[in-house]
Amino acid sequence: MATLGQIIFYSMIVLIVLFTGLIILILSLAFSGSTTEVTSSNRSPVGNLGEDELLSCYLLTQRTGFSRVSVTWQKTGMKGLVYQYTDGSPNLREQNSQFKGRTNLILDDVVRGNVSLLLRSVRSSDEGEYTCSVDSSVGGGTISISLRTGAFSAPTFTISKGFLVAEAIRWYPEPNVTWFDRFGNDLRGNTNLTQSSMGIYSLVSSLNITEDSGTYTCSIENSLVIVVSRATITGSNVLWTTYFTYSTASSLLASTYLSIMTSVLCTFYLS
Ligand SMILES: *[C@@H]1O[C@H](CO)[C@@H](O)[C@H](O)[C@H]1NC(C)=O
Ligand SMILES: *[C@@H]1O[C@H](CO)[C@@H](O)[C@H](O)[C@H]1NC(C)=O
Ligand SMILES: *[C@@H]1O[C@H](CO)[C@@H](O)[C@H](O)[C@H]1NC(C)=O
Ligand SMILES: *[C@@H]1O[C@H](CO)[C@@H](O)[C@H](O)[C@H]1NC(C)=O
Repeated sequence: MATLGQIIFYSMIVLIVLFTGLIILILSLAFSGSTTEVTSSNRSPVGNLGEDELLSCYLLTQRTGFSRVSVTWQKTGMKGLVYQYTDGSPNLREQNSQFKGRTNLILDDVVRGNVSLLLRSVRSSDEGEYTCSVDSSVGGGTISISLRTGAFSAPTFTISKGFLVAEAIRWYPEPNVTWFDRFGNDLRGNTNLTQSSMGIYSLVSSLNITEDSGTYTCSIENSLVIVVSRATITGSNVLWTTYFTYSTASSLLASTYLSIMTSVLCTFYLS
């Protein structure tokens, strides 16, 4: 005669085995059920006005021997197409004039299932939601990519009359500037922004430095990009390195995924 404790114990084992089986089934359906999918290395790119931007889209598959790759790039809310490629060549009859002469695929890559769109000289009107629809002999799919546009440029540094001066000529939307010493303490800089007739900001920010050597960090930030420069002063020389970080919506996705995983683990633990 099994005790209540034993019954609970064995029920728990059975439940855990069932859960494991279920999760393995779901995972295997999710990962091997469809062997071909369309994906992107960056679904929320930030285009720098006037520069070229690659909208990433490619087929991910275990199968080999692509043929009959065709792709249609569309922009939500816009008449006509951004770009289309069918039967081995570009098909631009329905292309919207906004994109005329400004878009192309890298044809060598198309045969490998890479149908990323190169968009030349980004304009603010290019901002929006794009869809990349692919079809091929090994399957296809659709993915959406959200392009945001702005202006951002790395600063240059000089030393002038006891001030470390950062200058950056192209920023949009309006940025702010923060200075830190090497311990991460906030320092008070003085920043001037001027706006061109096109609305683009240029900035000059100066920091009163009391010593003639040291390392300072200058961070220029707007809603799209954070540019962090680390400037090292020796005498009247200044050397610096700069890093760009683009804001993405995907950090939100990552944390959602994490919390789903956590709740799965908790369910396990509690059962
Ligand atoms: C697709 O092609 C572009 C342009 O040649 C390249 O930069 C990118 O790395 C390629 N992506 C993949 C996944 O091969
Ligand atoms: C910012 O502008 C003020 C007033 O026009 C001027 O006095 C100051 O020197 C400027 N600062 C920089 C860093 O250009
Ligand atoms: C720069 O800082 C030093 C030391 O704190 C101070 O004596 C000096 O007046 C400052 N210079 C300016 C222009 O604010
Ligand atoms: C600087 O700008 C960013 C983005 O617009 C904003 O999130 C941040 O709070 C601003 N920081 C300051 C100190 O104003």
